[in-house]
Amino acid sequence: MRLSLVSASLIVLAGMTAACGGSGDSSAPAAPAAETPAATPAPEAEAPAAETPAEPTAEPTAAPADEAAASEGSPEFASLPAPYNTADYARGRRTFKLCQSCHTTAEGAGALVGPNLYGLFGREAGTSEGFAYSPALQEADFIWTPDKVDHWLENPQTFLKGNRMTFAGVRRPDDRTAVIAYLMTETGYTGE
Ligand code: HEC
Repeated sequence: MRLSLVSASLIVLAGMTAACGGSGDSSAPAAPAAETPAATPAPEAEAPAAETPAEPTAEPTAAPADEAAASEGSPEFASLPAPYNTADYARGRRTFKLCQSCHTTAEGAGALVGPNLYGLFGREAGTSEGFAYSPALQEADFIWTPDKVDHWLENPQTFLKGNRMTFAGVRRPDDRTAVIAYLMTETGYTGE
């Protein structure tokens, strides 16, 4: 009789602690945290339940959002093919300042020291209307692609021997990618 009373009360106690632990796992973080000091006799069941919700909720929201913003290109370039869609618009416009004393980009804007560049991509080299090209560019037999312009700007002298573009080139690859992306948006690039 005594034994069964003791075991009965143990079962009741066990049931109570189990109920406590159970509600700590599933309910809002604030409730188990407030109960922890009062429930010290059964710390093993309570302590982990109180700590787990606190840590993961705090950190991971902020960091990935920042990284995503940093790796995206400028919205002006969003519709261009890779890698030009990840280029920086401000860098492209700044780099084009190296070209603008000799080149215009708008349709029909005319030649300066160099030919007008409207419609450059997909056009045969040396064929902008109204410009007297060097024999090297007149005889060149290729279509301007973003990749060809990249090589031309890397070193105008060696890309096509005998051309008359007296320009040292654009050394930094990310400057070239950005200025080509800028040219695409300014010269009516259509995806060819
Ligand atoms: C000092 C003047 C000058 C500067 C600066 C200059 N160019 Fe040129 N560019 C020329 C000349 C002149 C030609 C034509 C060369 C020839 O006929 O041999 C030319 C030709 C070109 C062509 C070939 C066009 C065609 O119709 O085949 C491209 C593309 C070009 N330039 C892009 C650029 C870009 C982009 C920049 C700036 C990063 C730049 N150029 C800077 C003078 C310049």
